[in-house]
Amino acid sequence: MATRSTFLLLLLVGVSAIISWLHQVGAVSSNVAELQRQRWRGKLPEVAIPQTLAARLSPLSLTELQSLAAGLKKIDAASFAAHKFCGAAGLICSEDVSFPARAGSNFANPNAELGEIEEHVFFDKEELRESGEMILPDLSPCKYLVSFLPSELAQMMPPFSTANVSQILNLLNISSGSNLSRSMVSTLEMCEARGEEGEVHTCSTSVEGMVEFVVSRLGSDVDLFTDTSVVGSDQRVRVTKVSKRENMVGGKPPVTCHNFAFPYGVSYCHSIKGSEVFDLQLEVVQGNEKVRRNATAVCHYLSNGAGGNQAACHPVFGEMLLWTPKA
Ligand SMILES: *[C@@H]1O[C@H](CO)[C@@H](O)[C@H](O)[C@H]1NC(C)=O
Ligand SMILES: *[C@@H]1O[C@H](CO)[C@@H](O)[C@H](O)[C@H]1NC(C)=O
Ligand SMILES: *[C@@H]1O[C@H](CO)[C@@H](O)[C@H](O)[C@H]1NC(C)=O
Ligand SMILES: *[C@@H]1O[C@H](CO)[C@@H](O)[C@H](O)[C@H]1NC(C)=O
Repeated sequence: MATRSTFLLLLLVGVSAIISWLHQVGAVSSNVAELQRQRWRGKLPEVAIPQTLAARLSPLSLTELQSLAAGLKKIDAASFAAHKFCGAAGLICSEDVSFPARAGSNFANPNAELGEIEEHVFFDKEELRESGEMILPDLSPCKYLVSFLPSELAQMMPPFSTANVSQILNLLNISSGSNLSRSMVSTLEMCEARGEEGEVHTCSTSVEGMVEFVVSRLGSDVDLFTDTSVVGSDQRVRVTKVSKRENMVGGKPPVTCHNFAFPYGVSYCHSIKGSEVFDLQLEVVQGNEKVRRNATAVCHYLSNGAGGNQAACHPVFGEMLLWTPKA
């Protein structure tokens, strides 16, 4: 009897040691977030997942993934438990949310109607000089951060297109005409827009898709930059130093990815020929104190339709990702 229980105990210890070793070597994943991390590492072994993105990996377990995939396969919106799906997968399906303007039109289209553009997101190229002044946008993180679906679920959703928006709304039980549905339509329209001259863009509904786009534009030897500092948010700042990153002149333009409004994670990534990246040192007056902060800005040069170019510069902040060829 004693030997038998000892044997069982040893077996148990052995099996759990093997499982833990498999986890360590990444051979199995315990949950979807780990699966998403593994796929990221497979394509970008040298790049750490930034905090803003790590927070948006899927909260699903592998078991939930399997049962949701099975439920989506025999697609029948009436019986699909949208509410449970949205909750478990970290999505936002409640109709009355109002995503900020920056989660949509304003980055994709700096020429949009003024009312649609969040204030101070774009600044003048003239302000990018020592002693120049600019007002920073609202740098606070987006209140509505939804998780990215794993690519296998993202691919099972109805096509990501304005032609199929009613299927998406039905599946997630969101009424058309609601605030959320309006944000969704506007996101889909921006994703389908032709884009600027020299612009290549894509909307990815998974982290895997985003990484694939970045690697297709820049290869896997990339630097990834994010900036979540809120110092100087909505405030006037003075520029004390500007340096242009030279490594991409004549090379591949940087890729910027923006978080767009949708019930599940959507990343609008684009690269515009001739874009430039600037590192800035800034000074913010807070009360009687001068606070210093660094920032990075991207300038896109867009055709103004009259043969000239118009610069559209914005700081990299919040959920935004800036990818550049490795320095
Ligand atoms: C829809 O959004 C507007 C503007 O953001 C807001 O004022 C309104 O309360 C929202 N509607 C609903 C039903 O929540
Ligand atoms: C997507 O929309 C097109 C055009 O309305 C339609 O023909 C197609 O069946 C839709 N696909 C799905 C999966 O709903
Ligand atoms: C859809 O949402 C409504 C409330 O907006 C709810 O009454 C209904 O039960 C939901 N249907 C499904 C299939 O979840
Ligand atoms: C800003 O960047 C410069 C140059 O890289 C560095 O020396 C400085 O410490 C940074 N300042 C802050 C406030 O991070």
